[in-house]
Amino acid sequence: MNHKAKISIGMAFGVALCGMLWADSGQAAELVSAIARGGKLYDKWYEMTGDPEPTTIHPAYPPSGGYADKPKDTWRCKECHGWDYNGKLGAYATGKHATGIVGIGRLNQGDPDAVVKILNDDKHLYGDKLTKQDLNDLALFVTQGQVEMARWIDSKTKEAKGDRQRGEAVYNTICAGCHGTDGQKEPKMPPVGKVASENPWETLHKILNGEPDSKMPAMRALDPQIAVDVLSYAATLPKEKPGK
Ligand code: HEC
Ligand code: HEC
Repeated sequence: MNHKAKISIGMAFGVALCGMLWADSGQAAELVSAIARGGKLYDKWYEMTGDPEPTTIHPAYPPSGGYADKPKDTWRCKECHGWDYNGKLGAYATGKHATGIVGIGRLNQGDPDAVVKILNDDKHLYGDKLTKQDLNDLALFVTQGQVEMARWIDSKTKEAKGDRQRGEAVYNTICAGCHGTDGQKEPKMPPVGKVASENPWETLHKILNGEPDSKMPAMRALDPQIAVDVLSYAATLPKEKPGK
């Protein structure tokens, strides 16, 4: 085969492959954004629905829980099931957030319809608070959006298993525009370095899914290793505001 023929076969193959990738990513794109939206609803659905925030304690919230004085928080999925999705077996095993409630890991890779059913049941009571779309996106998050936190974050040291140097480049090009290279530019939140080092699970959840009701992007479409690299670097940023 002459050189030219090889090139044209190569090009035809390349074009076909590109076509396949485009078709695939077209479908995946909708799914990925629905999952990320579900992840934001898991975080704080009532900031996204535009309806009035809950004013009473969630009936399934145990009297022993430390957030009974903040009723609306008791309606956040993360408050009962954890940022690490591990409920009573995870970071919320003890402390103010402890509820003794199971995680959502059993439904990972499970049936989305089963999750919608759970969210409508008389334990959860989300049927009249969320739309069908909300419930579907939550179900997609629960069944297809959970990352295995223990694989990415050491549960004892809280250290992220990422590459700090690669994370620094991503942080400085994607996050710093809003958060500043020191992580302190968003005035209403604690420094990124503080959140990332004290609660790496929350930070990873937000890097992957975005922050509810804000412009923060969701990095879910990229390899989770990239989000973990950013997390590794973010945890090294200053934890205190200057002058404190
Ligand atoms: C106030 C606490 C509370 C909140 C908030 C809450 N749940 Fe639950 N959830 C529970 C309890 C309790 C169970 C266990 C129910 C049972 O054993 O019947 C449960 C079970 C589940 C399960 C099944 C777990 C299993 O292994 O069977 C899933 C999935 C789930 N919840 C998802 C969610 C999602 C998504 C949200 C947010 C929209 C949410 N939950 C909000 C208390 C809560
Ligand atoms: C387009 C602007 C924007 C970009 C880009 C952005 N964020 Fe955010 N981020 C925000 C806003 C706005 C908030 C909510 C601030 C608030 O609660 O007042 C937020 C919240 C957060 C929080 C939660 C803080 C808390 O305690 O609730 C973390 C952690 C965070 N961002 C980290 C990152 C990281 C890491 C990146 C890069 C992958 C990033 N953000 C990219 C705008 C952005």
